[in-house]
Amino acid sequence: MEVKTFGVIGAGQMGNGIAQVAAMSGLQVIMNDINDEFVQRGMKNITNLLTKSVEKGKMSADEKAAVLGRIKTSVSLQDMAAADYVVEAATENEPIKFKIFQDLDKICRPEAILASNTSSIPIGRIAAQTKRPTQVIGMHFMNPVPVMKLVEVIRGLPTSDETFKLTWDLAVKFGKTPAESSDFPGFIANRILLPMINEAIYALYHGVGTREAIDTVMKLGMNHPMGPLALADLIGLDTCLAIMETLYKGFSDSKYRPCPLLRKYVEAGWLGKKTGRGFYEY
Ligand SMILES: NC(=O)c1ccc[n+]([C@@H]2O[C@H](COP(=O)([O-])OP(=O)(O)OC[C@H]3O[C@@H](n4cnc5c(N)ncnc54)[C@H](O)[C@@H]3O)[C@@H](O)[C@H]2O)c1
Repeated sequence: MEVKTFGVIGAGQMGNGIAQVAAMSGLQVIMNDINDEFVQRGMKNITNLLTKSVEKGKMSADEKAAVLGRIKTSVSLQDMAAADYVVEAATENEPIKFKIFQDLDKICRPEAILASNTSSIPIGRIAAQTKRPTQVIGMHFMNPVPVMKLVEVIRGLPTSDETFKLTWDLAVKFGKTPAESSDFPGFIANRILLPMINEAIYALYHGVGTREAIDTVMKLGMNHPMGPLALADLIGLDTCLAIMETLYKGFSDSKYRPCPLLRKYVEAGWLGKKTGRGFYEY
């Protein structure tokens, strides 16, 4: 099967990035969210990034117009009937994702592939929401999508080799380097990254150091490009909490318990960069 039309569910920070790289690779893209305000915000982000590329001489104005011309916005899931391949990048919440996959299964053509950009929810559980489990897979992009090279490709137990190969090849077409992970909570990336971030939040909670000290130690001492607290703000604290909850539940192991301070910030609506306040102010 050749992928020509690529659907993206969710126009948030990940969804609009995925839509951008897909359109830059030449695919026709349909970017969907629950209302027009959210899809327009996603389009604005893409436009701003492309404008910067033109200013830096990395892209011509004609190319920018062509990329934007390949992205259609949508507020109805029914539009996914036209897609060959759909990536879901909606909020990290099981009931929300399950409903999307149940609906996509009814709307999309029988041969269409349904992928999830989930950070931690097992792909097998998502696949079980559909009558096409062999055509369900994890396609996990990193943030910010246009910049980060990695795509983690997660094979659920029922995922077919054809679905896997198609996804792997798509990641390469997008200019990314794929890596394969088995279907365990958090896969490879977040099984390792999130406990480190959670531990940094515990260090702040216990008063081991200030936010600046914790991030400076990890940046200068471990050569990380950004500190774990700033990274948590970039990922979104709601997403960080959701991933820790999935690890905690999925492994039934207390070492994955989310830090109470993380929960407190999320309850206060301090979700990081996207809301203007997290461990830092923006
Ligand atoms: N933030 C990161 O660093 C990161 C990295 C890799 C993967 N992810 C994963 O990507 C997904 C999206 O994360 P994000 O950071 O873009 O979140 P976000 O909050 O920026 O965006 C989520 C978007 O999904 C939309 N949405 C919610 N329900 C929907 C529905 N039923 N139909 C269509 N759209 C719907 C929301 O309106 C919102 O615009 C999550 O599964 C997350 O775990 C995030």
